[in-house]
Amino acid sequence: MTYRITIKPSNNTFEAQPDDTVLEAALREGLVLAYSCRNGACGTCKGKVLEGAVDYGVYQAETLPDSEKANGYALFCQAKALSDLVIECREISAVKDIQVRTLPCRVHNMQKLAADVMRIQLKLPANERLQFLAGLGLCSALRVLSRTPGLMRCLPLERWEVRAATLAVPAVVLVAWGLATAPAVHEAIGGTTWGTAFWVAAALGVAALTAVTRWMTAAPPDYLKPLVSSPMGAVPTSLFGSLARGFDVLLLLCAPLLLASPANGAFISLVLSGVVLTYLLNRP
Ligand code: FES
Repeated sequence: MTYRITIKPSNNTFEAQPDDTVLEAALREGLVLAYSCRNGACGTCKGKVLEGAVDYGVYQAETLPDSEKANGYALFCQAKALSDLVIECREISAVKDIQVRTLPCRVHNMQKLAADVMRIQLKLPANERLQFLAGLGLCSALRVLSRTPGLMRCLPLERWEVRAATLAVPAVVLVAWGLATAPAVHEAIGGTTWGTAFWVAAALGVAALTAVTRWMTAAPPDYLKPLVSSPMGAVPTSLFGSLARGFDVLLLLCAPLLLASPANGAFISLVLSGVVLTYLLNRP
């Protein structure tokens, strides 16, 4: 027996066997639903069952509370169809033309880049081509490099140069965002010149960049330190402080804008941002 599943709003349809999760069946037919952990923990694959019934499978209760289940939500990496379904979920259409395949590869070259890092080059059969869609979150490169010293050592650059390079694009985006707020800043301050409004807006953009850098370059939680029991499991104490990480810097850099005159506040905020950014780019 097979079930027919229709995805809204795209109206794409696919068939699922009773043993398939909705996600497995969709992937097999080349439809990529958003997913990450595939074990009912992250909630990335969460979507709504508009028509039909599902077996919800095994998942973490916090990821799919009963209240959401009652409203028709399910985790499609776990849910199995019990009838034909109409579901609403996020599809990743950018990869729809890329087929998921297992390819035989030969190890072409191995090069030791550092004591704990090996670069491995694989060679595909001559007539095969690897199709992929590269993509990283805006500041993921900074986070990955800050948390992986072995990777950082592979690059023939100083620590601050590597971090500055990963920040180039986020810096342009955040400063542009800051400048886009200039009309609102001009109206909110009232009685100030457009030049000053642009300085304040630029200072806001740079403050946001500095706060993001603070967050992304922070050390990962230390699981060797004492752990606190919580409904989510054991949580390292250092993780609690991470809730404020980034906001602390934002508060520091926005304080001059709130307390001093707009022109002086923008100047002080930009200078402070420069000092904090310099420290963050060089920190171990
Ligand atoms: S992919 Fe993480 S919960 Fe489904």
